[in-house]
Amino acid sequence: MQYFPSHWQGFQQQTSLEGKLLALSEQLQRVCPAVDRFSIALHDEKTDLLSTFFSTSESDEAITRHQIRLHEVPSLKQIELAGTSRVINDLACLKQQDSFHSQTLLKQGWRSSYTIPMRYSDCFLGFLFFNSKQANVFMGESFSQLELLAQLITMAVYEEHKQAKTLRAAVQSALSLSCGRDAETGQHLERMGYYSRIVAHQVADRHGYGDQFVDKVFQFAPVHDLGKIAIPDYILLKPGKLTDEEYELMKSHTLKGAEMLTDILEHHGLASDRSSQILRNIVLFHHEMLDGSGYPCGLIGEDIPLEARIVAVADIFDALTSKRPYKKAWSNPQAIDTLHTMAQDGKLCVECVDALDAQLSEVEVIQALYRESNI
Ligand SMILES: [Fe+2]
Ligand SMILES: [Fe+2]
Repeated sequence: MQYFPSHWQGFQQQTSLEGKLLALSEQLQRVCPAVDRFSIALHDEKTDLLSTFFSTSESDEAITRHQIRLHEVPSLKQIELAGTSRVINDLACLKQQDSFHSQTLLKQGWRSSYTIPMRYSDCFLGFLFFNSKQANVFMGESFSQLELLAQLITMAVYEEHKQAKTLRAAVQSALSLSCGRDAETGQHLERMGYYSRIVAHQVADRHGYGDQFVDKVFQFAPVHDLGKIAIPDYILLKPGKLTDEEYELMKSHTLKGAEMLTDILEHHGLASDRSSQILRNIVLFHHEMLDGSGYPCGLIGEDIPLEARIVAVADIFDALTSKRPYKKAWSNPQAIDTLHTMAQDGKLCVECVDALDAQLSEVEVIQALYRESNI
């Protein structure tokens, strides 16, 4: 067990990552009052996207819900490659540089920064930024306290990351038993995660959710059809139209998925946290329609959790743009038109459809990365 001074250990009593990070932010105020905030940006290895994840400062609007590809920020890329932190004791010296991050920091009145690549157990997680409104803060004795704080923050983020990964892996290993049983391939699952993130990223703010919500939707959208494991082959693989009775059984994949999930979550002692709730809402409600015509509960409008409305849009979009034995893959504009019609008819969430439509260039990047081999 790693040793930390006793007054640092309060954060360990917190169960949520947010609670831990806020407790660590209080410690920051105590030991280094000149440091006004810390923030975290997480990196996704597959897409190279760096996304804001957490900030202790509420005045950070311009750099929350921000995404950029790491290779487009040479100074951060260099920090990642070198694996060493960077101190800038006077950001005014960067005035000539046009990097979005530096310019935003300057505009918001920050004067000095300490940037740390977050690495844990061979895993590059992203970056941790400490900032101050005063120049020349990151030097001297308080600096070693900050290094300790950085370790604790990295550890907390890694733990959360590992937990979400364990949860997803547990669900996915169950899913892999059924992989290839129906038309929904592994590529579909990957695309689902990214499409859902594109939508979540744009709509989260309006619903009072932050970057962590966006990350959870991204992590959990791919396991929406967990319950299909419980659907027999003669229904799942039936080439023709399902009978009414078979369709009723097929629809039960939502309820069966939620039941299986309850078992998995209880097994991991995670049944009641917010991540589990988002995962459960996705599995249970991704076929609900806003006009109440969906299943399994016939929920109406905003009674359908936002995460489920997002995943519904991503799922239908991917089904339309994918090849099936009975149809060709539709073009993106055709599929988006259909989603808009479904939104006008009161079935899909208008803002989620608009959000996907607004980012079709990002959608194309994902389609190129996760192309089906047979289309
Ligand atoms: Fe489904
Ligand atoms: Fe699906």
